[in-house]
Amino acid sequence: MALALGARRARVALVARNREALERVAEEIRRARGEALVAPADVTDEAAIRAAVARAAEAFGGLRLLVPNAGIGRYGPAAEQPAEQIEQVIRINVLGTIHTVRAALPFLLAGAPSHIAAVTSSAGLIPHVGGSAYCASKAAANQYLAALRLEVLDHGVGVSWICPGAVDTPFFEGANLDPDTDLPLLARLLVRKLRPEEVARAVVRAVEHNRREVVLPPVLRLFAWSRRMTPAFADWLNRKLP
Ligand SMILES: NC(=O)c1ccc[n+]([C@@H]2O[C@H](COP(=O)([O-])OP(=O)(O)OC[C@H]3O[C@@H](n4cnc5c(N)ncnc54)[C@H](OP(=O)(O)O)[C@@H]3O)[C@@H](O)[C@H]2O)c1
Repeated sequence: MALALGARRARVALVARNREALERVAEEIRRARGEALVAPADVTDEAAIRAAVARAAEAFGGLRLLVPNAGIGRYGPAAEQPAEQIEQVIRINVLGTIHTVRAALPFLLAGAPSHIAAVTSSAGLIPHVGGSAYCASKAAANQYLAALRLEVLDHGVGVSWICPGAVDTPFFEGANLDPDTDLPLLARLLVRKLRPEEVARAVVRAVEHNRREVVLPPVLRLFAWSRRMTPAFADWLNRKLP
């Protein structure tokens, strides 16, 4: 996403915990004649994320776009998953998103028209066995963003939440879930794994067209739709074809 935005001449501030990884992406953006700033922070540390966002706003003379994307996946049976793991998932995926949004909001309101395009997950719309904590965290993030959209749209700030299915990234390392074997049968048969570039394009399109909720790949929209319209049938299907 940072590379896609950099290629469009956006000045990009990169935030995550691992400075070296951020420096590598920044270097790649600069090699393509883009402008990038590295501002390492842990999104669960409210003061740190506020400082990182303020640094970016100061360096760039304001902010027009925020892409809250930091997130982790940890899976397991609800009764067995360690409490610390559940807390970590909720802290990063929910509170981390909220802290990041709130840190950027004053700058985005001042710089309107502006946009928040958050990467959440299809798991926030479509639950699956073993994903109780992760699904809850992404549903919470989706709903936070939906409420925020109502609050800020008339002030010129668009809000989108991008809900991808499985993406080919290091995300599943240490997550205790293999998407090729552990997701429900229908998902494994019908939903292909996305490339990160496809999610990046979806983010750019969501900003350009002020989309609300974006689900990808397209077949997952059908899953999300059936879950909303006929939840009992969706449950039945999931239990019949685990
Ligand atoms: N991969 C998938 O199948 C998939 C599917 C649907 C949705 N998603 C969502 O997509 C987003 C990106 O995931 P990904 O697939 O790119 O996974 P990833 O390769 O593991 O990347 C996660 C990113 O989040 C950062 N991060 C994690 N914890 C952080 C924290 N406490 N503070 C700041 N940054 C933090 C990581 O950097 P540091 O470790 O350096 O901090 C890393 O840049 C996540 O929100 C994930 O839930 C992923």
